[in-house]
Amino acid sequence: MSQSPSLSQLRDPEAFLRRHLGPDAAEQQAMLDSLGLGSRAELIEQTVPPGIRFNRALDLPPALDEQTALAKLRGYAEQNQLFTSLIGMGYHGTVTPTVILRNVLENPGWYTAYTPYQPEIAQGRLEALLNFQQLTIDLTGLELANASLLDEATAAAEAMALAKRVAKSKSNLFFVDENCHPQTLSVVQTRAEGFGFELIVDAVDNLAQHEVFGALLQYPDTHGEIRDLKPLINHLHAQQALACVATDLLSLLVLTPPGELGADVVFGSSQRFGVPMGYGGPHAAFFASREEYKRAIPGRIIGVSKDARGNVALRMALQTREQHIRREKANSNICTAQVLLANIASCYAVYHGPEGLKRIAQRVHRLTCILAAGLERNGIKRLNRQFFDTLTLEVGGAQTAIIESAQAAQINLRILGRGRVGLSLDETCDEHTVAKLFDVLLGADHGLSVDALDAQDIASGIPDELQRSTPYLQHPVFNAHHSETEMLRYLKQLENKDLALNQSMIPLGSCTMKLNATSEMIPITWPQFAHLHPFVPREQAVGYTLMIEELERWLCAITGFDAICMQPNSGAQGEYAGLLAIRKYHESRGEGARDICLIPSSAHGTNPASAQMAGMRVVIVECDEAGNVDLDDLQLKAAEAGNKLSCLMATYPSTHGVYEEGISEICAVIHQHGGQVYMDGANLNAQVGLARPADIGADVSHMNLHKTFCIPHGGGGPGMGPIGVRAHLAPFVANHPVVPIDGPLAQNGAVSAAPWGSASILPISWMYIAMMGPQLADASEVAILAANYLAQHLSGAFPVLYTGRNGRVAHECILDLRPLKAQTGISEEDVAKRLMDYGFHAPTMSFPVPGTLMVEPTESESKAELDRFIAAMLSIRAEINEVQKGNWPGEDNPLKRAPHTLADVTGVWERPYGVEQAITPDAHTRLHKYWPAVNRVDNVYGDRNLYCACVPVDDYR
Ligand SMILES: Cc1ncc(COP(=O)(O)O)c(C=O)c1O
Repeated sequence: MSQSPSLSQLRDPEAFLRRHLGPDAAEQQAMLDSLGLGSRAELIEQTVPPGIRFNRALDLPPALDEQTALAKLRGYAEQNQLFTSLIGMGYHGTVTPTVILRNVLENPGWYTAYTPYQPEIAQGRLEALLNFQQLTIDLTGLELANASLLDEATAAAEAMALAKRVAKSKSNLFFVDENCHPQTLSVVQTRAEGFGFELIVDAVDNLAQHEVFGALLQYPDTHGEIRDLKPLINHLHAQQALACVATDLLSLLVLTPPGELGADVVFGSSQRFGVPMGYGGPHAAFFASREEYKRAIPGRIIGVSKDARGNVALRMALQTREQHIRREKANSNICTAQVLLANIASCYAVYHGPEGLKRIAQRVHRLTCILAAGLERNGIKRLNRQFFDTLTLEVGGAQTAIIESAQAAQINLRILGRGRVGLSLDETCDEHTVAKLFDVLLGADHGLSVDALDAQDIASGIPDELQRSTPYLQHPVFNAHHSETEMLRYLKQLENKDLALNQSMIPLGSCTMKLNATSEMIPITWPQFAHLHPFVPREQAVGYTLMIEELERWLCAITGFDAICMQPNSGAQGEYAGLLAIRKYHESRGEGARDICLIPSSAHGTNPASAQMAGMRVVIVECDEAGNVDLDDLQLKAAEAGNKLSCLMATYPSTHGVYEEGISEICAVIHQHGGQVYMDGANLNAQVGLARPADIGADVSHMNLHKTFCIPHGGGGPGMGPIGVRAHLAPFVANHPVVPIDGPLAQNGAVSAAPWGSASILPISWMYIAMMGPQLADASEVAILAANYLAQHLSGAFPVLYTGRNGRVAHECILDLRPLKAQTGISEEDVAKRLMDYGFHAPTMSFPVPGTLMVEPTESESKAELDRFIAAMLSIRAEINEVQKGNWPGEDNPLKRAPHTLADVTGVWERPYGVEQAITPDAHTRLHKYWPAVNRVDNVYGDRNLYCACVPVDDYR
């Protein structure tokens, strides 16, 4: 009788690894065979320079299976305590409508999509973003809005920068109302330092004493006070300065919008429109301004254009790839923003409609009025005369007892100095909350009844002259989907227009569209992670602390750095935060004059944009013919910079898709000249387990958790860009004014609104590393294998522009379309659009080299999917041949007409190629047809006729 396998033999510790990787062992071997290689090890030896190899296993705990990892993380989550947080300060309890929770936030059709650079396959999320812009425009009372920024505090800093760009005033002073949220103040202070602006933080009553280029006001302010801003704004305008107003979106449903008071920029957080607090983020900031400043607005703007048939089609306008074009002159370094969260907020508005939203705002206000009346009658002094949802109370010597009583009732109040406490009510509050607050603030014998107070005529906290009178959200989209069936279908219709990872591979070079596994995503909506206010006492966030500290240790092990700063909430923010640390480090050594930042010509546009924000001067270093940093030029520029050299920013492997052999020497040159090395970590996924940035010579690097560590791209955000630093830079990373962080110097300001950035998505990366363990290296190796496999099979048809040692590429490769374009007139754009007809998202177009496509398959795509992509590309190449041979006219062929839509095939077909050729060019498309929603979008028309709000429904007909 044969022995049955033992339990230990039946253990499957690599179960998740096998699910994360696309090709199984046999498929990997077949791929290696086609490359003439015996093993993955041989490939890595041929590809990664031996001098930088990390020849050990990563110091990570053994991989856990999905259920065990979830159970461990659940154990952490349960150590977070869920109190009712009434701390306010820009973060409020909210209810995510369950239809949105399940069908957007928890739906890979929404969260795995990429930034809508290819608009024909992104009309769904573009429409949701346009709704977000309309919502912003309507509620702020301004003319133009963008499609989200990272958070309220960074939006304030962007507003200041915009004011400087456009104000006619020649002043270098920016005024900040001392009653702005403290984290806003801190981020603005940090940013002003980089820009070299002088900041005055003072009471608004003193504004008139200063000559400024702009001012930041808050309405209602951090203590809840509402004041008529008109006189202040008029004063600013008289001196040709801009009025930037931070505001609360919910309050604007009942308050006169700042735009109507004359504000030039209005911004804030849309968090309380259905997005959980998540211990600080991610949430979408909104940002609105005047039409005349449209070219100076930071971030992405969605605009209305038309497609090749003249139908309405949406696209990103003006700012698309702004940094790549304007580099250090760009409006900002914002690249990844907060698309998923902006879409949740806009869907929240669609779901509730204007009446529903108004009811929520009125209810919050009424609860606050009842609370205020009861407290006033019992002699508690309120410091803000007027209010929407926030009360600041003078409680004197009772403060300690009140705080203790609040703790016992599991309520977090805002604790202010000098015997004051604050509180903000929100959508989740009700009569019981108010009753509990009476008990907490007045003791048990107050004799108040919420119902009795509600029956009385209690005055509004909003003065008559600031009661909102103008209508909002009148567009049909906000008035049509109020039954759950309609809402469900609307969300599904939008989702169906878009191509996300749940449809097909998205081979975007530099963007790393790898698997975002379901087990990684599950914890983010657990209440213990989702509903924590970022400023709760640390003892209520023990689970978060355990998870974050462990993740930091793991990231240190992976990168070789000594410390991690979790605050930056995108890759570009990481760049900025890292450069600031470098700047402060130089200053601490009396070398504050070091301000030159060397950047290779191949760098991503955010690099120079971030350097400029950190107050550095950018000097470009050329690349040689092989695509590597030109060492001679580097040496020359470093020597020329001399004691002005601050740092180098380098991406590794390079954006050209190769492991540059000279990287260690490059770092050494910079260090010899007293500079620091900033490594752009966008390509860290090709290093994990194979090399470590700190060992190579980097002093600081950001890690795109939304690339290498599986946070989904969300259609253009959220992201996370924590930085790793070597010990000497650790004291100089960001701190936080409300929740000071151990490690960095106390005087360091914040770079983001929340202490740990977008903390609630960190469980995704935690889960990924916990489930992969030291086998993370396998992911890097398979990603490199997949890229080389594609390069091998495509290079005959489309030349691979750059290769490294032994003719190998790293984890991505650039296909050069320029020679073909010269011969046939078919461009990289035509190929990109034609791929849509085959059901694929295009590779990265024209970055880093114009006229090319950069392909990154990642480790998560199966061999079958890679083969399908290869077949599609070769089939497209054959189509180009037909054009070249003259069988199809240069302007009337499947490539120039791509993508094809249903509208193309329902009319009379009079083209020189067949219908089937157009829409079902291969076997896969005959079985699984994905239809682009619109024909090719007219970019030029869109920019010439900029229109960035919802169009009337009739325009779609
Ligand atoms: C090489 C490189 N650097 C920086 C960035 C900016 O990162 P983020 O979009 O997270 O701000 C990107 C984004 O794609 C990138 O590819």
